[in-house]
Amino acid sequence: MRRLTVHPGPPLHGQMLLPGDKSISHRVLLLGALAEGASQISGFLASGDCLATLTCLGALGIRIERHSCATLTTHGQGLRGLQEPVAPLDCARSGTTMRLLAGMLAGQSFTSRLTGDQQLLQRPMRRVAEPIHHMGGEIETIDGHGPLTVRGRPLHGHEHHLPVASAQVKSALLLAGLYADGPTTVHQPGPARDHTERMLAAMGADIETAGLCVTLCPGRSLAPLSIEVPGDISSAAFPLVAATLVPHSSITLKGVGVNPTRTGLLDVLAAMGADIGMDNRRNLGNEPLADLTAQASGLVGAEVSGDTVVRMIDELPALAVAATQARGTTVVRDAAELRVKESDRIAALVAELRKLGARIDALPDGFVVQGPTPLHGAVVDSWGDHRLAMALSIAGLIAPEGVAVENAECVDDSFPGFVEAMRGIGAGYD
Ligand code: S3P
Repeated sequence: MRRLTVHPGPPLHGQMLLPGDKSISHRVLLLGALAEGASQISGFLASGDCLATLTCLGALGIRIERHSCATLTTHGQGLRGLQEPVAPLDCARSGTTMRLLAGMLAGQSFTSRLTGDQQLLQRPMRRVAEPIHHMGGEIETIDGHGPLTVRGRPLHGHEHHLPVASAQVKSALLLAGLYADGPTTVHQPGPARDHTERMLAAMGADIETAGLCVTLCPGRSLAPLSIEVPGDISSAAFPLVAATLVPHSSITLKGVGVNPTRTGLLDVLAAMGADIGMDNRRNLGNEPLADLTAQASGLVGAEVSGDTVVRMIDELPALAVAATQARGTTVVRDAAELRVKESDRIAALVAELRKLGARIDALPDGFVVQGPTPLHGAVVDSWGDHRLAMALSIAGLIAPEGVAVENAECVDDSFPGFVEAMRGIGAGYD
């Protein structure tokens, strides 16, 4: 169990090159496996979660050549080229792996079993099993949780109305829709990340988005990809907030994905008074990216709800740390999804940030933070949740006695090299 210790130091300065986007890295492997031929991928995120997807695809008969940590070739076998796995597929701690694979395997001609760590087996899976059932598929859960048994079946097109804005559920249904006998339509209640739609369109699929509604018509084969994965804005959240909070800091993050379904944190930090710039905007394949700069800034509290929450769902732990230093009240609502992430992030944030002296209270669907509050040192726990571990570590940069985060090895689930990257901008990570 690795303990991460962080202490205050000089202002943060310099440039950081972020690791590849986690959501896009999963998708490039999964969709690449279904393409007709070899996809070339660079900037791949070799994190615990994405490596779980890679290993599962290997067990489904897909050959993936790794030329370096971040560069690989996926030898796609076409829509009907997957092989029946001989053993349960281990999704480790990755919800994206389990949910997207469940959709992709629902229309195969064989049965697959999907399992993972205890933490993953506590997360809700009925949200995928139920709509797949409406398509004629069969995903057996254990009381709504994994392990899952996916019995491949012929699938029908269906018009889905999702109760929660979830890119994982939407993507699972679109992947299943590739195998259906008619169109699959997904109506979303909010703008969940759209990387699957963008990638499917780039591969030649017949897919249309109109507002919050996506329709996929099956029948076309998928062309292989040649793709460079942009930097992960969810990983950028931690150095961005750190530079905002540590006096006199100024940092630049190069090549960050700025897909509008992911940039809620930038909007909220700007509304709170943070000095965050976006330069050198360009497109990388079907995804926009930019260089982000952040300077130390005084913050005021903000109200965050609705679509903005959907566009920053993974960044709310980092926002909570920023809110402790903002003048006034910060309220986050409409974020009940936080309760079913790698941890119950509402309970975890309240418990752990209070140990540091923060004034934070839970709401059923969010939290309220009063600021500014000087934080003090403490030993805190990650709850086995990578985003919690990194958010809490940032607090160590402004707590005079520093902070120790227990069970911090989970950082590698999304940001291997986090400690070295933070040291690179001068942060006091031991
Ligand atoms: C993800 C979607 C989000 C996000 C997760 C990655 C994805 O989850 O929290 O980290 O890659 O599709 P939900 O679909 O459950 O909102």
